[in-house]
Order: sequence, then C-alpha cells, then structure tokens
Amino acid sequence: MKKTLGAKDILFPIPIALVVSGNGDNANIISIAWIGITGSNPPSIGISLKKNRYSLDLIRQTGEFTINIPSTNDMVKTDYCGLVSGKNVNKFDETNFTALKSHKVKTPIIKECPYNIECKVIKEVEIGDWVLVIGEIVETHVDEDKIENNKISIEKVNPLVYVPTIREYWSIGKLLGKSFNVGKKMINK
Ligand SMILES: Cc1cc2nc3c(=O)[nH]c(=O)nc-3n(C[C@H](O)[C@H](O)[C@H](O)COP(=O)(O)O)c2cc1C
Repeated sequence: MKKTLGAKDILFPIPIALVVSGNGDNANIISIAWIGITGSNPPSIGISLKKNRYSLDLIRQTGEFTINIPSTNDMVKTDYCGLVSGKNVNKFDETNFTALKSHKVKTPIIKECPYNIECKVIKEVEIGDWVLVIGEIVETHVDEDKIENNKISIEKVNPLVYVPTIREYWSIGKLLGKSFNVGKKMINK
C-alpha cells in the first residue's frame, strides 16, 4: 500500500546551494533548493526564485550569478542565508564567508564552499509567483584538496543535502557503483 502525500516540495534528496548575486559591496547570498541541470550543450543550470527575492533583482541587474555548494560544516550559515534578506543585512559580513574573484563573471564565488559554478543568464521562465532563471555554466571550480586520483572526492567535498518534504539537511551516503556501467550486465547477459 502507498500513502498519498500531495504535490508540494516532494522531490528528494536534492542539493542545497548558496547562490551569489551582485558584486563588490552589493554581493548577496541566497539559499536555493530549487536547482537542477537543464542541459549539457550548452551546459546549463536552472534556479527558481520567488519573484520578491532581492537576489532576483541583483541577478537581473548583472545577468550573472554563481552557485556555491556548501559542505555539511556550513549547514548553519546556509540555513541563515535562507532566513534573512540581503535587503536588510550583508550576508557576507554576517557569515564571514569570503568572496573570491570568479574567472568569467564579475559575481564572486564563496571560498569556503568546496565546489563553485559560474553562470551567465540565458533565459527566464515565469512559473506563477516564481521565476526559473537558467544560466549557462561558463566555469566551475573545486578545492584542490578535494581532488583524489584525478577526480573529485565526494567524501571530501562532503556536500550538504536537502530533503524539502520534511525540511531536513542530511549528508551524502556511500559510493554504491558507477553510472552508465553497473547496468551493462543486464544488457550483456
Ligand atoms: C533550505 C532553504 C531552501 C530555500 N530555497 C529557495 C529557493 O529555491 N528559491 C527561493 O526563491 N527561495 C528559497 N529559499 C528562501 C530564500 O533563501 C530566503 O527567502 C532568503 O532570505 C532570500 O534572500 P534575499 O532576499 O537576500 O534574496 C530557501 C530557504 C531555505 C532555508
């Protein structure tokens, strides 16, 4: 038997990202759970923001944003950035997050986040009270010490994971297998 749960906030687990908008003294941070890859060529990613978000104004002003994946160590700061608005506080000052220069956009990345993505806006889609902002990914960064045997160590990145259905933060589990690979044994049997 299955129990119906309704249609709200139902997909899980998903990443939780810190999205930076603006630049210089105006740089702002917002916590974003509505995020996902939208295509591979060009590489693109979508973030959905409620229309009244200060971050949306800043993204529209500059046409760019950065996505920063926090580790579990920064859970409290990540939640904080989702509780207060950059209209009222400077979230870089309050969190002590460090704004690092990006390579291809003026909006900074967050040094303390192990994985960072630079984006230039290519499209906006209105969905009710929300705006899906799609950005072309123009650069990505990972901390050097999170690379092991020439690949990103997910254990070291230790990304914060979100379960919106029950409003909980989790950590990632253990490696189970390689994609585009483990299923092959069902083709070749
Ligand atoms: C876990 C979590 C996830 C969130 N996800 C989103 C989201 O995907 N889109 C959005 O517009 N707001 C989201 N929010 C709310 C914003 O982060 C929050 O309203 C923030 O204060 C807005 O900041 P700003 O006014 O500086 O832009 C989320 C908040 C939390 C705590």
